[in-house]
Amino acid sequence: MSTPHDPARFSAARTAAEPDADFKALNDSLAFDVRLWPFDVAQSRAHARMLAAQGIVEEADRDAILAALDRVETELQAGSFPFAPGDEDVHMAIERRVTELAGPAGGRLHTARSRNDQVATDMALFVREAAGRAGELVTDLATALVDAAQRHLDWPLPGYTHLQRGQPVYLSHHLLAYAWMLLRDRERLAFAADQTRALPLGAGALAGVSFATDRVAVASELGFAEVAPNSIDAVSNRDFVLDLLHAASTCATHLSRLGAELVLWSSSEFGFCELPDAWTSGSSIMPQKKNPDAAELLRAKAPRVVGHLAALHGVFHALPLTYNKDLQEDKEHLFDAVDTLELCLVAARGMVEGARFDRERMAAAAGDDLIAATDLADLLVRHGVPFREAHGVVAGLARTAIQSGRTLAQLGPDELPPPLDHAEVAEILRPAAWLESKVSEGGTALSRVREQLECARAALA
Ligand code: ARG
Repeated sequence: MSTPHDPARFSAARTAAEPDADFKALNDSLAFDVRLWPFDVAQSRAHARMLAAQGIVEEADRDAILAALDRVETELQAGSFPFAPGDEDVHMAIERRVTELAGPAGGRLHTARSRNDQVATDMALFVREAAGRAGELVTDLATALVDAAQRHLDWPLPGYTHLQRGQPVYLSHHLLAYAWMLLRDRERLAFAADQTRALPLGAGALAGVSFATDRVAVASELGFAEVAPNSIDAVSNRDFVLDLLHAASTCATHLSRLGAELVLWSSSEFGFCELPDAWTSGSSIMPQKKNPDAAELLRAKAPRVVGHLAALHGVFHALPLTYNKDLQEDKEHLFDAVDTLELCLVAARGMVEGARFDRERMAAAAGDDLIAATDLADLLVRHGVPFREAHGVVAGLARTAIQSGRTLAQLGPDELPPPLDHAEVAEILRPAAWLESKVSEGGTALSRVREQLECARAALA
């Protein structure tokens, strides 16, 4: 008769022969799901307590299980956990070890539980924690952006469309645009966390279990707000993984835009900022170079995260209910996306906090008065000219200026078609005037930027 310590008790029941080594390589998930162990230990504790409270296992068995779980936790923390060749995944490794340590009592831990509801529960706990951590890093980065906006409140910068100078803005206004993106990312992350509110555990393999369990007690110990109302859905549901990947994809995409701008701004061509040494690298051959590698990688990592989202939509597509081994494939995509996003958020914050902006360079680029062409057109509109017509008139003036190597302000009174008045035009073309004319809500006039800066701070608080 096999003893509770016999590893053969943990091999697949129907299959007698040793699994093919390559099957094991394909099938085993321990190498990557081992990081779920803190959640697996936590849920096993909650499950064992519930089993005893419901009279399903003896209190002495519960105590033996809990003591074994304490030891397992210590071993996993210390890196001394004795993994065995037959450990297919983290759940089997922990249960095997608990049984080695606790004897026959350990064999009672899996009463009224299946790996199907177990893994769904671990994943929900992982997603909840990862969403919270990413949310904090997003908040840190958004705070760094708001602080940088405060430090550069009235520093002019060209605003671009098509990467052509469009209209001048303040650097503060531009940096705050990223803070708003991140505030939305934070909402998406919170949504993903909320999607883990229903406890899968207690669903069993798929149909429920034949013991009088108390799922609400387990839910409250593990911080779930409710229990999943349908056992079939409970073991099949990975929506919260997709939700987190979606939030991560959008956030990583935002960071890629920030990264791309930092690459441009720190180039000699733009010269708008210098990135901190700690987030750049030198060239192995060209001593003058300071490469914006981290900013480039912010740009390049986003499609990797989006790829994980797309891959999992593929995995879940048309998957019959309920649990299928396909679902094991959720882990590496999720873990890599979470790790990648966290690194990118930290890097972005480092660059935003340490970037040194060049006020003169930015002001010079924003001071090209062709950039005020829209304001000139608006002046004509105020004189009653329809905007379309005004647009054509100003385009003509811009052509004249460019062809003769002059600025708009250098055009003579005789070159300005009526009703344009030379003094009025000169006033409009003062750099500060272009910026301060944008008084609409959300516009770049300083009073408006101050207003949105306060709103952003309030939203962050
Ligand atoms: N390692 C598996 C996974 O990640 C655990 C669940 C296994 N369940 C099963 N019925 N084979 O999905």
